[in-house]
Amino acid sequence: MTRTAILGMGHYVPSKVVTNDDLAKMFDTSDEWIQQRTGIKERRYIEKSGIGASDLALHATKMACENAGVEVLEIDAIIFATLSPDHNFPGSGCFLGDKLGLGGVPALDVRNQCSGFLYGLQIADAWVRCGMYKRVLLVGAEVHSTALDFSDEGRDVTVIFGDGAACAILGPTDDEDQGIIDVEVHADGSGAKELWLEAPASAYEPRLTHEMIDNKSVYPQMNGRHVFRWATAKMPEVSLSVLERNGVTVEDLDLVVPHQANKRINEFVSQKMSIPPEKVVHNIQKYGNTTAASIPLALSEAIQEGRAKKGDLVLMPAFGSGFTWGAALVRL
Ligand code: COA
Repeated sequence: MTRTAILGMGHYVPSKVVTNDDLAKMFDTSDEWIQQRTGIKERRYIEKSGIGASDLALHATKMACENAGVEVLEIDAIIFATLSPDHNFPGSGCFLGDKLGLGGVPALDVRNQCSGFLYGLQIADAWVRCGMYKRVLLVGAEVHSTALDFSDEGRDVTVIFGDGAACAILGPTDDEDQGIIDVEVHADGSGAKELWLEAPASAYEPRLTHEMIDNKSVYPQMNGRHVFRWATAKMPEVSLSVLERNGVTVEDLDLVVPHQANKRINEFVSQKMSIPPEKVVHNIQKYGNTTAASIPLALSEAIQEGRAKKGDLVLMPAFGSGFTWGAALVRL
């Protein structure tokens, strides 16, 4: 049976490094507080206005194609996961396709926040297995830094997020020991307003007012404790469900590449599932939470560093705004 393999991965982060001390010059926070609560030391921001998620994705795509040994023009479908598209519409996948010279190639935007890469992976897997497409570019890319509240009021959210992009090229393989084994995803909109960006909104007329800017509804709002509780419950639950369905135990796993929301969340999840710390990949200390980019960014780096190798069995759990959550089991 045909399976879907990750043929190659790539990533890109902007060059501008913003440390916790840099943030502490703008609002009331400290390196100690941020590191203790989240594990984050620094994050990347775009260097200047005018750089969108599709621009970051362009660099990542070139690296992924090189690693996959695939020409850009061989890509026959694009899936672009982001919560920070370049513009409200059209989707960032269209902008990226144009930058890559892929006129006519279908481009689907996925709006599932921190679980976006997993939702995209499930779609890409189905497309490849049914023979519809042969070279799917799956991107996770975010520019958060242009919509953060750099004041005391927004500090809980602002310290967490960073900009970045990463992607995978997916294609068919007949190798039964390689590829995507399973992807399970969920959503529960009862938590929608616990982590959301309210405005501009088509639900309001007009969509954007001076009042919305003044009352800060143009910045993401988060009930951090509520999100923490849900993330630490749902990530182990969905991970165990995927492992059990596929007859895999925690001992069988070579690597766990969780969404990088908060190092404490991932430590909590690993403990709950009895995953040895050395099997868990963290890069949140360097990049913060890059939402849809976070899992592919961590996996791509782990491959580049030789920490993730061909044949490794990898679990990728995620939780995020929506609420949405999921887990993927992949043999590299
Ligand atoms: N710097 C310094 N102090 C801060 C701060 C910051 N950046 N952000 C909040 N605080 C303060 C609060 O104002 C509060 O002060 P008070 O006790 O005087 O009222 C205190 O720190 C504790 O705030 P609280 O929100 O209860 O902290 P917490 O322990 O829950 O940690 C988070 C906050 C955001 C780090 C934590 O809730 C979290 O990580 N939640 C999950 C978030 C997440 O993963 N989001 C993405 C999901 S994909």
